[in-house]
Amino acid sequence: MISINCQDKKFKKLLNDFLIFKFPQNFEIEEIFFDIEFINQICIFTIKYSNQEKIYKLKYAEKHSLLKVIKKIILIYFDGIVNYDKSFGILTGVRPLKLYRKIRKDNNLEACQRILKEDYLLRQADINILSEIYDNQKEIVDNSSIDGYSIYIHIPFCPSRCSYCSFDAMVIDEEIIDIYIEALLKELSSLKNYYNKKPKTIYIGGGTPSSIGWKRLEKIIDEVYKDYGFADEFTVECGRTDTFSSDLLRMLKEKGVDRISINPQSFNKEIIRNLNRDNTNFDFWYEEARNHNFKSINMDLIVGLPGENRDSIINSIKKVNDLEPDNITIHTLSLKKGSRLYDENFINDKDYWDVMEFSKKFMEENNYFPYYLYRQKRMALSGENIGYAKQGHICKYNVISMEEIEDILGFGISSSSKIMDKNHNFKRTFNYKSLNDYINRINDIILMKSSLIEKKDE
Ligand SMILES: C[S@@+](CC[C@H](N)C(=O)[O-])C[C@H]1O[C@@H](n2cnc3c(N)ncnc32)[C@H](O)[C@@H]1O
Ligand code: SF4
Repeated sequence: MISINCQDKKFKKLLNDFLIFKFPQNFEIEEIFFDIEFINQICIFTIKYSNQEKIYKLKYAEKHSLLKVIKKIILIYFDGIVNYDKSFGILTGVRPLKLYRKIRKDNNLEACQRILKEDYLLRQADINILSEIYDNQKEIVDNSSIDGYSIYIHIPFCPSRCSYCSFDAMVIDEEIIDIYIEALLKELSSLKNYYNKKPKTIYIGGGTPSSIGWKRLEKIIDEVYKDYGFADEFTVECGRTDTFSSDLLRMLKEKGVDRISINPQSFNKEIIRNLNRDNTNFDFWYEEARNHNFKSINMDLIVGLPGENRDSIINSIKKVNDLEPDNITIHTLSLKKGSRLYDENFINDKDYWDVMEFSKKFMEENNYFPYYLYRQKRMALSGENIGYAKQGHICKYNVISMEEIEDILGFGISSSSKIMDKNHNFKRTFNYKSLNDYINRINDIILMKSSLIEKKDE
């Protein structure tokens, strides 16, 4: 067991969160003890492990940087002794690129890489992928502006609930869908006068937007065009082929949608069935979508699903590459509250470091370059999510939302909106997660969001 003795509860919690992230497998089994005492700007930090005791006297000015030092000491001390998650050194946040960009702003490439290695203990492989992604998304970041904005619309319905999923999504109910859409259209139209230019990107996500039927989806697309105008990029997450129809593809193409996704997650049929998911006629619908000439088609994979092994994952990576979609997103399984796997105590104990490294190399050899990356809590060891695209097929929305460089106006339940003020700080509002609250309190939501946009210039 890993335990910490520290009077400062906040400090203890921050260190505990870090340890859970880095030592998930060892948390329950090893006997590791940390003692932290603060005496007049000196911290006495003790590690006790396997009948050994090591004491460090650390001078500090403020506790934030002290915590960073302690994290480094722990990782260096246990390197080669205890197996822990070495990916991204002491960083545990969702967006490591943000730190990279911040450091790179004041340093040349060499100095930036040295800082990440020495101060944050990033491995060379992590630094390399961050450097590549930084270069690949630079044009989008450099072209961002304080009055640029994108629209996100959340459709919280799916044909069935996949057992790994914790997203705000519910199984389709025709009556509820119609009530939801009524509220959604109202929310869309009420904010139409707050930006006097068209959005840079529009993204309809979920859930599975295509599961509500093409006519309802068309109504939403018409409303967003009427209220906000055409965007440079329009994405609709279709995701599951059991929601596809020729009418759906025709309508999306006619309406000017240029990106859709068709997500296998894995090409191992039995694994998909066990996850309460249906990838019916996957190859057929992919070909149909190709015949409609969408500019970009994305496919999502998840590494680490129950029942998978290295060979089956590598097969899926090779198969997705054979199909040559324009964009491939490789996720590692994250076990979050709200998913059936979490409730069933599925244990994520495999380290897929070598599979992820294989995938990076394989993608590059096949002309897919990485352009966005994020991490989540409770991921498989060495986990990360990386979006790859062929030349000319980057999804701008993914970069804008992940790197937080422009406003996002979110609509629908559980969506969030991020509005940048003139000092480039973001203010956020979150729509209600419960359908009843969203529908009954739609006027409050509209008011909250409009007042945030009004304050943009203050
Ligand atoms: C917002 S979901 C919606 C996609 C769409 N409904 C579908 O199922 O194809 C986007 C992607 O997140 C990934 N995802 C969902 N749950 C995940 C989990 N627990 N761990 C890792 N990736 C996950 C999947 O690859 C999924 O395609
Ligand atoms: S993975 Fe997609 S289809 Fe499955 S429950 Fe989550 S949002 Fe719905």
